[in-house]
Amino acid sequence: MLYSPQRYLVTSALPYANGPLHIGHLAGAYLPADIYVRFLRLMGKDVVWVCGSDEHGAAITIKAIKEKRSPQDIIDQYHDLFKVAFEKMGIDFDIYHRTSSEIHHETSQEFFRKLHEKGEFEVKESEQYYDAQAKQFLADRYIKGTCPKCNHDAAYGDQCENCGSTLSPTELIEPTSTLSGSTPELKKTTHWYLPLDKYEAWLKEWINTGHLDGEQVHDPSEWKNHVLGQCKSWLEGGLHPRSMTRDLDWGIDVPREIEGSEGKKLYVWMDAPIGYISATKQWAIDNKKDWEPYWKDENTALVHFIGKDNIVFHCLIFPAILKAHGDYILPKNVPANQFVNLEGDKISTSRNWAVWVNEYVKDLPGKEDELRYHMIKNMPEQRDSEFTWQGFQDSVNNELVNNLANFINRVIVLTHKYYDGVVPAFDENEVFISPTSEDYDGFHETEMLQLHDDLQEVNEYIRNYDFRAALTQVMKISSQGNQLLQHNEPWKQIKVEPETVKTVMNMALQVVASLSVIIYPFMPFASAKMRNLLALSELKGDGELEALMMNLAEGEMAIPTGHKINEPIHLFSRIDDKVIADQKAKLENSKKVDEAAVEAALAVTAASAKSVSAKEETTEKPTIEYGDFVKMDIKVATITHAEAVPKTDKLLKLQLDVAGEERIVVSGIAEHYKPEEIIGRQVSLLANLAPRKLRGVMSQGMILMAEDSDGKLSFVAPDVAVSSGSTIS
Ligand code: 2FM
Ligand code: ZN
Repeated sequence: MLYSPQRYLVTSALPYANGPLHIGHLAGAYLPADIYVRFLRLMGKDVVWVCGSDEHGAAITIKAIKEKRSPQDIIDQYHDLFKVAFEKMGIDFDIYHRTSSEIHHETSQEFFRKLHEKGEFEVKESEQYYDAQAKQFLADRYIKGTCPKCNHDAAYGDQCENCGSTLSPTELIEPTSTLSGSTPELKKTTHWYLPLDKYEAWLKEWINTGHLDGEQVHDPSEWKNHVLGQCKSWLEGGLHPRSMTRDLDWGIDVPREIEGSEGKKLYVWMDAPIGYISATKQWAIDNKKDWEPYWKDENTALVHFIGKDNIVFHCLIFPAILKAHGDYILPKNVPANQFVNLEGDKISTSRNWAVWVNEYVKDLPGKEDELRYHMIKNMPEQRDSEFTWQGFQDSVNNELVNNLANFINRVIVLTHKYYDGVVPAFDENEVFISPTSEDYDGFHETEMLQLHDDLQEVNEYIRNYDFRAALTQVMKISSQGNQLLQHNEPWKQIKVEPETVKTVMNMALQVVASLSVIIYPFMPFASAKMRNLLALSELKGDGELEALMMNLAEGEMAIPTGHKINEPIHLFSRIDDKVIADQKAKLENSKKVDEAAVEAALAVTAASAKSVSAKEETTEKPTIEYGDFVKMDIKVATITHAEAVPKTDKLLKLQLDVAGEERIVVSGIAEHYKPEEIIGRQVSLLANLAPRKLRGVMSQGMILMAEDSDGKLSFVAPDVAVSSGSTIS
């Protein structure tokens, strides 16, 4: 990287405060940024790193509705949880802010006002989907349907998480309201649109060439291929005006002095990235600094760390907002990561298929660096990656314990044993076997220069956002240290060639001291322990790597002769099989809990006389009007095909014939009926129940079952065969 900015403003995606953090989040936007920032600080750079909770948008309010809690209650809970998770994992932002703060509301409104005054918005009336039952317009996650691009059947109104396309609700096939499950109707409403179509030409030029207004402002060859690829495909598909406002009651008000703003809020993707700016402002207030150069000076490198689902917002929409405003710089790079899968399956919050960070730090306290190490090693930099508990155990036991900890421990123990903990001298006349230079000239300067070059390689990988390769290189330095001991066998030579052993041990200590600095971005807790072990000053992220590399380049030592080190301690310990077995069982069990919830939901809605919960069993259902009953469309259906739903014990996928129409229904009857037994059976179908997805299958209705006091289920069916589609009333 030729360009050397005066300062850096680094951001990590603001997580939605609607669910806990999992390891995929960690590897996506937080660990890479933490490595990058720690490294830049070690190189003496001026860096501010901001993050915070994203507390607006449908993700929050939908959860609040589901749990019958206030949005404020939800965001407070997750904001606090995030802070703990980040802190424990050593993710060390300069500020962890929140978008519900006053300064953020003000900053976002100022932005909106400015764009409005500059005439950057197009105000348009249009027809949008409206849920008459919930009395709400349906944008973003309030509406679901089939993706017109990839046919994924659970795409949101703003985005398909399967193919990554940005969508508008009217593009969805068979849309349904996520609030009530009903089919929405169209209703007129007015909104403020950002005319992305008008920005398309300069966005194309900026992304593809790095030119903006005739200046080279970034180098596209430094951007990841998959990021450029996504941007290009959006740009080739053509950009459309995008609404920056919503009809909602949770969010940031459109400035009320603007005509027609009543009841309108900012679109969450307008306010969230501005959250980076408001967080920087708050950081500046707290630290008595000036925030503006970090956002407005061309000598600042703005770098956004995000997951791949956020690429369009950070590479096209936010840059368009910043440019429309006019006073701000654009990102220098957006090194987005792909996704982490878990034990062969996609991580899923709704299926509870995840390793939750808050639980990890409770279950395996003191093993934060171990998780960091394994996640960095498997960081999804170019493609999706995979986390397995077995892989985690192997990384820790084979690499951290057997390679890194073993090497450091041997050096510290031998230094105490032979020299009472004092660093011995390096004698240029002693010839030892160096694992790095073939002629083994043993000159101190050559060896120090070699260490410098090894560190320089790590340096270059990090600057290229290639954190996996950087970590591999760190571990290579440790392996070379091990080889140095292995080849020269100080434990044998101490009696034969004690002077040579001094030189070998001096060299080994130089490697350990260098490692204590270079592992700081990756494993800060281990780095702190190593510094203590070596009785060297704690790293503060204040140019220590830069200083070390300058010294090594001049042949100077990382740890001086005569320096006294501390007693050995264990840096990493082995992870027992039992710990891994427990975590695997926990994962499987949590999935089962989720499956039970699906079944419970099925059973509860099964309209059978019995209810699953003992509490409800004793509760009589309230009297209903005939009008309530006739709302139910109950029909006789014939089962034409049945099969088990994969990875479940209790669910069958049934194909039904209803007067010639085919229906798919998922039913929790697998423990009561075998698929082959029930083909041709007639059953009662609640045909107008809102469709819902169960285990990846869209279930279009519900089979009515009778349940006896032992929990045995049986079909409710006509006592003689009738034509399928007959109504039940
Ligand atoms: O995808 C998400 O979790 C979003 N909350 C990320 C927002 S990033 C930024 F722009 F604030
Ligand atoms: Zn799609």
